[in-house]
Amino acid sequence: MSALQNDRYLRALLKQPVDATPVWMMRQAGRYLPEYRALRAEAGSFMNLCQNPELASEVTLQPLRRFDLDAAILFSDILTIPDAMGLGLRFETGEGPKFDRPITCKADVEKIGVPDPEGELQYVMNAVRQIRKDLQGQVPLIGFSGSPWTLATYMVEGGSSKAFTKIKGMMYSEPATLHLLLDLLANSVTQYLNAQIKAGAQSVMIFDTWGGVLTPRDYREFSLQYMHKIVDGLIRENEGRRVPVTLFTKNGGMWLEAIADTGCDAVGLDWTIEMADAKARIGDRVALQGNMDPSMLYASAERIEQEVAHILAGFGQGSGHVFNLGHGIHLDVPPENAKVFVDAVHRLSQPYHTR
Ligand code: CP3
Repeated sequence: MSALQNDRYLRALLKQPVDATPVWMMRQAGRYLPEYRALRAEAGSFMNLCQNPELASEVTLQPLRRFDLDAAILFSDILTIPDAMGLGLRFETGEGPKFDRPITCKADVEKIGVPDPEGELQYVMNAVRQIRKDLQGQVPLIGFSGSPWTLATYMVEGGSSKAFTKIKGMMYSEPATLHLLLDLLANSVTQYLNAQIKAGAQSVMIFDTWGGVLTPRDYREFSLQYMHKIVDGLIRENEGRRVPVTLFTKNGGMWLEAIADTGCDAVGLDWTIEMADAKARIGDRVALQGNMDPSMLYASAERIEQEVAHILAGFGQGSGHVFNLGHGIHLDVPPENAKVFVDAVHRLSQPYHTR
């Protein structure tokens, strides 16, 4: 395997000195790029892209050709695990993901098992291996999974949700059933991420998109506890390097200390918290990832640069910051604005890294 040409992203996650702040964007491959839309149309569906290693690799590399990004992220989805468990995943245009066989009761949970990462999910590992080969050491590759709680919301609701009534109904009326499901998911995610690491992922990130809809107590019991269990079970060193782990709970700003306590290397932040506050609270313990509002990419170049400067100043001097958006890039953002953002991070961050 070729040596890494740019390891800023891995170094920043471990607070090792860097020459500039690394940057990548959540959902950096996807529909805001015309070259993605063209390849997706050719492939026929999103899952066809994910299941073909050459296409998944091509889509992963597309944003890296346009922008000076410091990391690549595996092109896949968090819902591959429930799909492999037999729930029947469909992506309906304009409607988001849907499951044909959602989880409604204890008997449904008892019917499913931990998917074999090199069996039903082998297409994901094949994509990781292909991407590592095609990257030729240009930048590190990020592997990822959804958190058990976030995956469970889709599995119990049967798709996306606004009020989470079904899963919260289960949480309050049948907590043991939900814990059984979350425990199964924690085991599945641990095996899935470890297989991604063995296949070549140099860092992993857990997306807890919906942890922020929980009460503080329920967050700890039904989401954080299971992410902690996963962190405890992950391979932390591979190819002679540490494999950093990033936890991202959207709307988790109230619980940063508890998230940092899991033993993760970095905490992902959405835009509802000031970078300076997050730094003061947990910046001595973990690296921080984030946190520009993705809607800022609708603004002028001057406004984007001003916001980047504000966030960089909030983090301040030294390593330990991976710049990102606070959530995924929106699908109608002009790609030129993403370029302004990425270039601004590199240019404006240099004064913070003089040694
Ligand atoms: O970041 C990247 O570039 C890597 C790829 C990636 C995708 N999904 C590709 C994708 C990642 C990291 C995800 C994670 C994901 N998927 C999350 C967690 C992160 C977050 O955004 O909160 C969630 C909640 C999902 C579930 C999911 N998958 C949704 C809600 C959707 C959108 C459905 C729709 O049609 O709008 C998807 C589909 C999806 N995943 C697309 C992409 C590029 C769009 C599919 C298409 O081309 O139609």
